[in-house]
Amino acid sequence: PKALVLVGGYGTRLRPLTLTVPKPIIDFANRPMIVHQIEALKEAGCDEVVLAINYRPQVMMDFLKEWEEKLGIKITCSQEPEPMGTAGPLALARDILHNDEGVPFFVLNSDVVCGYPMKQMMEAHLRTGAEATILVTKVSDPSKYGVVVMDDQNKVERFVEKPQVFVGDKINAGIYCLSPKILDRIEPRPTSIEKEIFPKVAADGQLYAVELEGYWMDVGQPKDYLTGLALHLAAVREKAPDTLAEGSHISGNAIIDSTAKIGKDCLIGPNVAIGKFCEIGDGVRLSNCVILNRVTIKNFARVADSIIGWSSKIGSWARIENKAVIGEDVFIKDEVYLNGAIVLPHKDIKDSILEPGTII
Ligand code: GDD
Ligand code: MG
Repeated sequence: PKALVLVGGYGTRLRPLTLTVPKPIIDFANRPMIVHQIEALKEAGCDEVVLAINYRPQVMMDFLKEWEEKLGIKITCSQEPEPMGTAGPLALARDILHNDEGVPFFVLNSDVVCGYPMKQMMEAHLRTGAEATILVTKVSDPSKYGVVVMDDQNKVERFVEKPQVFVGDKINAGIYCLSPKILDRIEPRPTSIEKEIFPKVAADGQLYAVELEGYWMDVGQPKDYLTGLALHLAAVREKAPDTLAEGSHISGNAIIDSTAKIGKDCLIGPNVAIGKFCEIGDGVRLSNCVILNRVTIKNFARVADSIIGWSSKIGSWARIENKAVIGEDVFIKDEVYLNGAIVLPHKDIKDSILEPGTII
């Protein structure tokens, strides 16, 4: 089967990281977000993935060349002349997705992480013969998602995108298995699959759901990205514990690239990812945080609940906490305290920032 990943969108909620690279190629647990998805698609037998993109296509293409070979799957880009929403791109890629045999295809939002049960979805989809099968999961705050109401046969009765009033707590997890005939409902213009297509498919009795077992998170914003990492690492602990870091300096789940250097007497974890070529000094304390590639952290600094962008330098005894997000190539002076600050790329920070949410 073929797959289409919805990559477009500017990823504004993940700024300042998305000022440097498009959201899908930001590392999540030390591999680009989209690579987790492409791997799962390859494993489910997909031979081609189309990336629907409307922003910085060249960056994506250059980047994906490398992975096309590594993963052994054809990766192509379908570029939109203007943002086409979440359904329009399917019409644009119709030639690739459509086939007369009715072989279904997958569609994924690029910012969701989970165990990607693609095979299970395909089986369920073929069993019901429906037009669309969507993955659903339960969340405590459904209002920022698409909510589904389904019967005891998992047939979706209603699909309501971002409901203002409570409809239910089962939500669209952003992964679909679709039959080519759904393409006849979609025109090549900006269209929301959630607002314009799924409600109609549900009304026609052609929308079914598969309930996800295990973790799920939309990692499109910093807080959720960190929560998603914690959930993902917990799942890795079950499935592939030897890929997690080990030692007396590790507390809970952490993943550390083999090229990273770690000093003496550090305490790392829980829920930490340290990327390629990072240099961590002595006595550094890291918890619930992501350290992207090539970051240097000097002795006795402390990072908690925050994301540190590529090639940044954190001074000795500096303290960064409370959902701070540091862009690429930022310099943070010794002993500086950052409380929830958002720091744009290439800044030099010499003074503490005490107010959370300050953008500098
Ligand atoms: N190619 C393309 N063009 N992709 C787009 C466009 C566009 O114009 N607009 C959005 N996308 C991509 C985003 O990059 C993302 O991967 C996906 O479509 C969904 O867009 P988001 O902006 O992340 O939507 P959301 O998180 O508010 O809601 C969606 O995801 C929820 C699950 O995380 C909806 O599908 C909800 O129903 C769902 O519950
Ligand atoms: Mg999203």
